[in-house]
Amino acid sequence: MNETIQVQLNHRSIRKFKPEPISQETVNLLVDVARHTASSSFLQTYSILSITDPAKKQRLAEIGKQSYIAEAGHLFVMVADQYRNQVIAESQGVDTAILGGTDRFMVAASDALLASQNIMVAAESLGLGGVFLGSILNQADEVIQLLDLPEHVVPILGIALGYPDQSPQLKPRLPREVMHFENSYPRYTSILDQLKLYDEVVETYYDLRDTSKRVDKFTKQVANSMTRTHPGRLELLKFYQQQKFLLK
Ligand SMILES: Cc1cc2nc3c(=O)[nH]c(=O)nc-3n(C[C@H](O)[C@H](O)[C@H](O)COP(=O)(O)O)c2cc1C
Repeated sequence: MNETIQVQLNHRSIRKFKPEPISQETVNLLVDVARHTASSSFLQTYSILSITDPAKKQRLAEIGKQSYIAEAGHLFVMVADQYRNQVIAESQGVDTAILGGTDRFMVAASDALLASQNIMVAAESLGLGGVFLGSILNQADEVIQLLDLPEHVVPILGIALGYPDQSPQLKPRLPREVMHFENSYPRYTSILDQLKLYDEVVETYYDLRDTSKRVDKFTKQVANSMTRTHPGRLELLKFYQQQKFLLK
């Protein structure tokens, strides 16, 4: 055990922030942490947008249907970015058609996501709290417009950060035996049996988002997730393709 692991094991999403901004110095430090994240083939195919314009923050909160997006002390939007490298390659007369392939999207999205997690861990280690925001993809087309993203750049994840004004319970995770395997993937016969105890534990979790409602069993949450989605998310591929990603 060490301090880094303690921060990681203590992770919980924070969705209520004190009305204090995060200093520019801290923002720069978090961006530096992101910059030092491992990057596929050293191509550094992501960028970070700090959303400081209150009107844009508010619009992102509406898109995400989450008021805490507007209330965050700092809001990052992590984007998969092959535009910079497209410009670099074109300046050398190189064909960039490969950027439309699945692999180049995966690489850019991975770079953005790994940097996101590094930002979160670093923020938490400084006593800040935060939450990732997949909800910005509810209307990815509008986010692309709002942030004026060029081709080969798409939003991947928002990160709302701030000084925590709540102290949520640690959210219980799947037991190791259903998610850590050795050498090959087992075909379960007893997955539901193995999850019985976990289902009970999840039900004891107290969700600060909807305190009036008991949290469903994990297995019920999984089943519900198959039918509940924001309609805009179903169009994500189309919006990404409009940005010239995932064309083949
Ligand atoms: C990719 C990703 C997207 C997420 N999007 C949202 C979101 O839009 N809004 C939100 O409130 N939480 C979001 N979360 C936070 C998860 O709900 C949260 O991590 C999960 O419930 C576990 O809770 P914990 O982080 O407190 O341990 C997201 C997390 C991830 C990893």
